[in-house]
Amino acid sequence: MKKYFNKGFFVEKLFVAGAGTMGSGIAQTALQGGYQVYLFDTADGAPERAIAAIKGRLERSVEKGRISADDQASMMKRIETAPLRAAADCSIVIEAVFENAEVKSALFKQIDALVNEKTMLASNTSSISISALSASVSRPERFIGAHFFVPAPVMKLVEIVRGLSTSDETVARAKEMAGRMGKTAIVVKDMPCFLVNRLVDPLVNEGVQLLEEGVGSVEAIDTGAKLALNHPMGPLELIDLMGLDVALAVMETLRHDFGDPKYRPSTLLRRMVNAGFLGKKNGKGFYCYDENGKNTGVNPLFK
Ligand SMILES: NC(=O)c1ccc[n+]([C@@H]2O[C@H](COP(=O)([O-])OP(=O)(O)OC[C@H]3O[C@@H](n4cnc5c(N)ncnc54)[C@H](O)[C@@H]3O)[C@@H](O)[C@H]2O)c1
Repeated sequence: MKKYFNKGFFVEKLFVAGAGTMGSGIAQTALQGGYQVYLFDTADGAPERAIAAIKGRLERSVEKGRISADDQASMMKRIETAPLRAAADCSIVIEAVFENAEVKSALFKQIDALVNEKTMLASNTSSISISALSASVSRPERFIGAHFFVPAPVMKLVEIVRGLSTSDETVARAKEMAGRMGKTAIVVKDMPCFLVNRLVDPLVNEGVQLLEEGVGSVEAIDTGAKLALNHPMGPLELIDLMGLDVALAVMETLRHDFGDPKYRPSTLLRRMVNAGFLGKKNGKGFYCYDENGKNTGVNPLFK
């Protein structure tokens, strides 16, 4: 496998497909783990915007004394935007595109035709079956779920999801990758929405349901969770950060796959997604956000 030689170390190449909230965070995390990173997205300008956001976050880390200016410069040298064919040269591909099985499968088919037999293919899906996605590639034993959490550079966990065909070697490689990125890995079974989302999505959905029923205000719901449950953020702040569309997709998968009505997505959540309220990523969710992503207060709709 071709690797870069950089400052005396072989630098492994990692391809990130999708440069949205998660792709941008995963790319930064991979830089911090020492990888050479290629960033690809089908939306015009998305990889460039993601790289600018990474630069901004790293600059803030330098200002706060968390990393040195040299570290920042070395990381920025190891990331570039790339066309899909650059995946051919990478030992790891992490996919973080829209949470849609058809979109992901079609992309993995294309990637599968490019990469060599050793490349590990990982999906960051929150809810789609890893075993089902692995059916779109020719070497499903090299396919795995690597579920990062938002914001990826900060959150310490990677949920490694083992599909029916995933090999022990691929599980070991994914754990090693997570470790290099400074994360703790948990290995979980390929059940609908895996482990952490089974815990968190019903919680944030219930927060929206409480608002829909008028049980409490946006502030009351979030303050309740923070002060009584000791959560660092309330369910409505959290769903804004996760993306309302992503949370809706997860609830729909849970309801569909288990057939259990307890997973019914809140009607308000569905209405908001249909109306284009996606949360922090587009500046409007249960709270509003300025162009720097700063929370500017509760969405006037809910005042
Ligand atoms: N947001 C979260 O809290 C969170 C947490 C963990 C996992 N995830 C998962 O990560 C994935 C991405 O979520 P996100 O929140 O970053 O979404 P996002 O909407 O912020 O970004 C998705 C990006 O994928 C790009 N894209 C779409 N189709 C593509 C294709 N065929 N090829 C290349 N790029 C393509 C889009 O242009 C967009 O930039 C989803 O599978 C989601 O379930 C999200």
